[in-house]
Amino acid sequence: METREVIAQVLASRRRVSGRYLAERLGVSRTAVWKHIESLRSLGYQIDARPREGYLLVNVPDLLLPWEIRQRAQTRLLGTSMFHYESLQSTNETARELALQGSPEGTVVVAEEQVRGKGRMGRSWLSPRSQGIWMSVILRPRLHPAQAPGVTSVAAVAVARSVEEQTGLKSEIKWPNDILVNGRKVVGILTELVGEDDQVQFVILGIGVNVNIQRDSFPKDLRDKATSLGLEAGRKIDRIELAAAILKHLELEYQSFLREGLKPTIARWKTFWRHRGNTVEVRYLDRVVRGVALDVEDDGALLLELPGGERERVRAGEVFPREGPA
Ligand code: BTN
Repeated sequence: METREVIAQVLASRRRVSGRYLAERLGVSRTAVWKHIESLRSLGYQIDARPREGYLLVNVPDLLLPWEIRQRAQTRLLGTSMFHYESLQSTNETARELALQGSPEGTVVVAEEQVRGKGRMGRSWLSPRSQGIWMSVILRPRLHPAQAPGVTSVAAVAVARSVEEQTGLKSEIKWPNDILVNGRKVVGILTELVGEDDQVQFVILGIGVNVNIQRDSFPKDLRDKATSLGLEAGRKIDRIELAAAILKHLELEYQSFLREGLKPTIARWKTFWRHRGNTVEVRYLDRVVRGVALDVEDDGALLLELPGGERERVRAGEVFPREGPA
């Protein structure tokens, strides 16, 4: 652990600590302690310093600093290795490069801003500076590639739960794995897989959460469809606490998935699914199908009843709500 990270951790108790105590604990000089304090201040930490009395943490900056997230998440696997960037093209891209270089399972990449954030279906993902959580996790599950989409459902459950816990808002999952609040999208998940025919090499799990995005920052065509947690809650949401909650719940849900398979995750997933009985349209590449959403099956497939009464399992694609009977 870096020295300034340890200092931040000691100060997190919110009690005043003397320079002498810090110097002894870290085995460095008091001048070195002061230099680290200055370095934390340059990141935006507000630290009150009094001669003879020592240092008191007044405020932590609104940045997704790995040590701040780690301290709150208390995870064993996810985020023990974590990289934080001011700006990236896409956290999924950087995570993929790290994975190809051998970074271990659980490595997390977060960025304050993405200039080429990627969405599903080749779309882009709006990722303005310090207004969201733009994060990717490297996973190396021993799975057949066909089972890998389960990871996306695992993430959806973990994030939906974290959003409710941290904001008090009700989250809703829209099949396949978008998270909505009050009918508008607040979270997108993009899972990318690298593997051989019969074995996953690694999965990049990309999670984008619109935390404190202002209404004007959304382009006009998105304003009906997307929102942010801050807008819905009417207050600024703490990104560090939310990122930590996501890692904590993700670790638990992922472990359950590896141990027991997807079924228990899908059972929890369904508690956030409120579209049973709705008429939907599914757009495939070559055709469009309309039907009633009957259920989500244990492997995550959406079960539709078509107008003729036959049933169809939808494994991938996009569904759009439609008014009236199928
Ligand atoms: C969607 O289209 O719903 C998926 C959006 C996924 C966005 C996240 S933000 C972090 C990670 N990096 C990316 O470039 N995309 C994902």
